[in-house]
Amino acid sequence: MTDTYLDLVNSGFTRTLAKRLGLPRPAVLRRFREGDPLVPGRVLVLHDDDSSDAADVLAETMLGWDLDVHRHASKDDGFGAVVLVLTELSAPSRLREPLLALGGSLRALAPGGRVVTVSRTATEPGLSATLAAARQGVDGMLRSLAKELRGGATGNGIVLGEGVGLDAPSVAGTLRFLLSARSAFVDGQLLTVTSDGGTIPADWDRPLDGQVAVVTGAARGIGAAIARTLARDGASVVVVDVPASGEALAAVANEVRGSALQLDITADDAAARILAHVASRHGRLDLLVHNAGVLRDKLLANMTPKQWDPVLAVNVTAPLRITDQVLASGALGTAPRIVCLASTSGIAGNRGQTNYGASKAGVIGMVRASAGALAAAGGTINAVAPGFIETDMTARIPFATREIARRFNSLQQGGQPQDVAEAIAFLASPQAGGVNGQVLRVCGQNMVGA
Ligand code: NAI
Repeated sequence: MTDTYLDLVNSGFTRTLAKRLGLPRPAVLRRFREGDPLVPGRVLVLHDDDSSDAADVLAETMLGWDLDVHRHASKDDGFGAVVLVLTELSAPSRLREPLLALGGSLRALAPGGRVVTVSRTATEPGLSATLAAARQGVDGMLRSLAKELRGGATGNGIVLGEGVGLDAPSVAGTLRFLLSARSAFVDGQLLTVTSDGGTIPADWDRPLDGQVAVVTGAARGIGAAIARTLARDGASVVVVDVPASGEALAAVANEVRGSALQLDITADDAAARILAHVASRHGRLDLLVHNAGVLRDKLLANMTPKQWDPVLAVNVTAPLRITDQVLASGALGTAPRIVCLASTSGIAGNRGQTNYGASKAGVIGMVRASAGALAAAGGTINAVAPGFIETDMTARIPFATREIARRFNSLQQGGQPQDVAEAIAFLASPQAGGVNGQVLRVCGQNMVGA
C-alpha cells in the first residue's frame, strides 16, 4: 500500500509547499539496491579514551570492506556514517568527549546516514555500579540520539554480550547490516551479539548460497517479501500458505524459483508435511521462518473464542509445535536458523489486541527459551518485531487510526515488507550466527513501548 503523503512531500511543488508550511516531511529511506555503495559517504570512527584499540579493530574491519574510514572529523567533511566505539568505557563521565565530538559532526551526516554505537552489556554479573551505569548510559543516549536524527538517518547499537570479542564474526556482520541500506527501518535499537559463533560469508551478497529455507504465510505481504529476499541472498525457498491462497502462493514460488506447499500450519501434521516436502524436493532444511499470522482485533469486553482461538493457534501454538517437531526430527542442517515474527504489540501492548499481544509476546518467550536448544544444535533462534508495516493487514485499519500509527515513529512513516524481510535475512545468515535468543524491532523507533 502506498503512502501518498510521503510521496507528496518529496516531490515537485508540494515539496516546496510542505517546507514553507513547516509540515513534517518524512524522508524517502535509503533501501537496498544492487550496485549502491554500502555507506553513502565516508565513515567517521570515534571512541572514548579507553577504547582506542577497539576502534582500531573496527576501523580495520571496515577498511577491509573498502570503506573510506576516518578517525577525526575535519571541518566541512561530510559523512555517510559515524561509528562510536565505547567497548572499554569505564565511567559515565567518560562519555562526554566522544559524545560532544559526535554532536559536532551530526550536521555533516548524509541523508540516509547511520550512527552505530558499539558497547558492552550492562547486565554482566559482578559489574561495579559505575561500570554498569556507564554501559547502560549508552542505551539511553543512543535511543535519544536516534530521535534527533533527520533525513532518513538512523541510530542503532551493537552490544557485546559477556565474553564476546570484537573480532567475533557477528560483530562484523551486525555492523555491516546496521551500516547498510538493508536496515532502513531499524532505528533506535540495540542488538546483542551473544557469542563468538557465526562465520563471515564467502560472498556478502549471497550469504545463503546453497541453503534451503521454509517461509510460512508467504503468499503475500511480509512473507512474500521474505521469500524474495532469502532467494536474492542465495537460498532455495519453500513457500507455505493456506490452500485458499494457492494461486498467489504459486506465483511467489515461480518468482523465486522455489516450491510451494499448500498447508494450514495449525494442522496436526503440519511439521510432518513440511519435512516430507523439503526431503523430497530439496534434500535439506536450513532456515525456518515462522511468518504466518492473523489478527482478530476486539476489546476484551467483547472478545469471544471466535477471535481468541485462531490468533493463538496460528501465531504461537503452531510455531511452537512445528519448531519442536522439526528439531526432534534431526532434519535440520548443521547451522540451523529459526526466525519468528513477533510484533511491537507483543512488547508495548495495543488496545483491542489482548489476543494478538498474548500470541506475539508468547513468540518472544518461545524464542528466549529455545535459544539454548538451538545453540546446542549449532544454530540460532531469534524474533523480528515489526511496528507499522504497509501490508494488506494494515490497509484494513480505519484511515485516521492508520495515519496516526504510521507517523508515530522517528522516521514518520510505515515500513515496507522489504524492511522486515531484510532483518530476517540478516538473522538467517551465517554472519548472524552469534546472535541468539534476541528480538530485533523493525519499527522506525515506534514511540510506543520500549
Ligand atoms: P498478511 O495478512 O498480509 O499475510 C499473512 C499470511 O499468512 C497470509 O498469506 C495468510 O494466508 C497466511 N496465513 C494465515 N493463517 C495461516 C495458516 N493457518 N497457515 C498458513 N498460512 C496462514 O500479514 P502480514 O502483514 O504480511 O504479516 C506477516 C507477519 O508479520 C504476521 O505474523 C504478522 O502478525 C506480523 N506483523 C505484521 C505487522 C504489520 O504491520 N503488517 C506488524 C507486526 C507484525
